[in-house]
Amino acid sequence: MILAERKTLSVAIDGPAGAGKSTVARRVADALGFTYVDTGAMYRALAWAVLDSGVNPQNVEAVLTLAENLDIHLEPGRVWADGREITEWIRSPEISNLTSPLAALPEVRARMVTLQQAMARRGGVVMEGRDIGTVVLPEAEVKIFLTASLAERVRRRREELSAGGVERETETLEREIAARDARDSGRDTAPLRPAEDAVCLDSDQLSADDVVTQILALVGERSHGE
Ligand code: DC
Repeated sequence: MILAERKTLSVAIDGPAGAGKSTVARRVADALGFTYVDTGAMYRALAWAVLDSGVNPQNVEAVLTLAENLDIHLEPGRVWADGREITEWIRSPEISNLTSPLAALPEVRARMVTLQQAMARRGGVVMEGRDIGTVVLPEAEVKIFLTASLAERVRRRREELSAGGVERETETLEREIAARDARDSGRDTAPLRPAEDAVCLDSDQLSADDVVTQILALVGERSHGE
């Protein structure tokens, strides 16, 4: 086989908001020298573009036109939309709350899935999201479903926001995260759920180090099985 065409394996990491996917996915990608792809940032970039352009989020056709034409560029921890860096804007509560309903639109998902599959064509990716193991990369060699209790996820999100100088009340965050979970899990298209062959890990019980170690062990097993 020609070396340039050789496909390396892919790692899919799914789970609800605040389960620790990003930390773990980035560390696994670094350890393996793989490309890290944060698919949530792509949906967030679309929400940003909707707000920036003044398009009515209820106007599905206009949202789809934006999604079709939006040029999204990702680097670890950074995001650009049409050449503008939007990293510092896309984690705001306003964007978080708008992203979830936009991500429920089947045509928006179809567009994002096409882009994501193109990024993973040659393997060598660690991709995190909600539907990676089920829809985007059903053939991924390693699939992880990372969960944590709502209380723990709220605690982490609060700390994360606080580190960025944003203070939010626990009850408000809890309500928002629970609503996003319900929307992401309850939608008709690509709802959040573990793939049948996913390994489920609970990050209430495990440190980020433990989770990374377990994923790297699985990658080791699967690559030797090639
Ligand atoms: O992972 P995150 O919190 O940045 O994701 C933002 C939103 O996008 C969240 O509501 C779930 C949605 N999302 C999705 O539907 N599918 C993905 N593959 C990734 C994120």
